Amino acid sequence: MTAAPGAGSLVVANIGELVTNDPQLGVLHDAALCVVDGRVAWVGPRAAAPAADAALDAAGAAVLPGFVDSHAHLVFAGDRAAEFAARMAGEPYTGGGIRTTVAATRAAGDGELRATVGRLRREALRQGTTTVETKSGYGLTPADEARSLRLAGEVTAETTFLGAHVVPAEYAGRADDYVRLVCGEMLDAAAPYARWVDVFCERGAFDAEQSRAVLLAGKAHGLVPRVHANQLTAGPGVALAVELGAASADHCTHLSDSDVDALAGSATVATLLPGAEFSTRSPYPDARRLLAAGATVALATDCNPGSSYTSSMPFCVALAVREMRLTPAEAVWAATAGGAAALRRTDIGHLGIGARADLVVLDAPSHVYLAYRPGVPLIRTVLHNGVLVA
Ligand code: NIG
Ligand code: FE
Repeated sequence: MTAAPGAGSLVVANIGELVTNDPQLGVLHDAALCVVDGRVAWVGPRAAAPAADAALDAAGAAVLPGFVDSHAHLVFAGDRAAEFAARMAGEPYTGGGIRTTVAATRAAGDGELRATVGRLRREALRQGTTTVETKSGYGLTPADEARSLRLAGEVTAETTFLGAHVVPAEYAGRADDYVRLVCGEMLDAAAPYARWVDVFCERGAFDAEQSRAVLLAGKAHGLVPRVHANQLTAGPGVALAVELGAASADHCTHLSDSDVDALAGSATVATLLPGAEFSTRSPYPDARRLLAAGATVALATDCNPGSSYTSSMPFCVALAVREMRLTPAEAVWAATAGGAAALRRTDIGHLGIGARADLVVLDAPSHVYLAYRPGVPLIRTVLHNGVLVA
């Protein structure tokens, strides 16, 4: 059964396992959930479900909050399949390929970029992603960064200015001049279209001082920091993210004990991107070490044409379980509530009363199947704001 158009209320009936991520509600079995005006209005035993205008029969399957992909780069042109193939034949990943995508993106028209963003957004939605963050970072001029964020804003409110992704070719050897451009004219052009500011704090990209300048300039424009931190080397990114109160430190592949302690003692979420380790054949970070220390962990795709060309949160959940030592329950939490925490959102990532009715019905009886049956399309139904979208 499907929701009638314009229906005010919908009951999701016959739920075999309902993962709410709500501390009071927990995981329910033989449950039902009622949606009114796009929000969760009631959760309880199947037999006690209230009457509603429409019903969706989950037929004994598992229902989870929609995935919150808090880190993606969807605005780009071209592809880097040859670079991937070379890597699989032994070449290292250095981030140098970013400039290839910058050249292709600058040369693309709005229509081409819009088509790619839309295609990837729909692809993610079909795999259960009801919220996606997306970054600029392949334009690297004031006009191209503003354009990227404007187009990103057509599919999500969670837009991130990443003008400090790499130093573009025309600024080679003049990184400080480029940082001045980013902090000045580029931010002025981009900030109206962005909620967040990000920087690739890494050897070969931006050092601690340059990264701090970019993040502080972003803050002065009303943007909240997040950081590409400690991806390729154990650098200063995590410490800087915590120092500046960033919403998240992303990648966290190479962490010292003091990085782990800093994350654990802060509100900065450690966002892990296992698709990047997979696609760059790098060692995976140990998510259990972060959880044991008390850090909040999120999982995201990092969807981009270079280091992680996947839009699949189920794939990331499976990788995190197999390679990062998370239990299936922890990985699902990180891919939903963890992502919401990384985006500082309380309306998504859970199915407590009042939450946005963003949820997925699996083709499986429990959340465990997301890791137990990797690579299998297990997303049967997706509701966004209570409306059937996939
Ligand atoms: O998050 N690390 C920096 N940025 C991206 C990679 C971008 C690319 O290779 O095009 C990342 O992995
Ligand atoms: Fe990234």
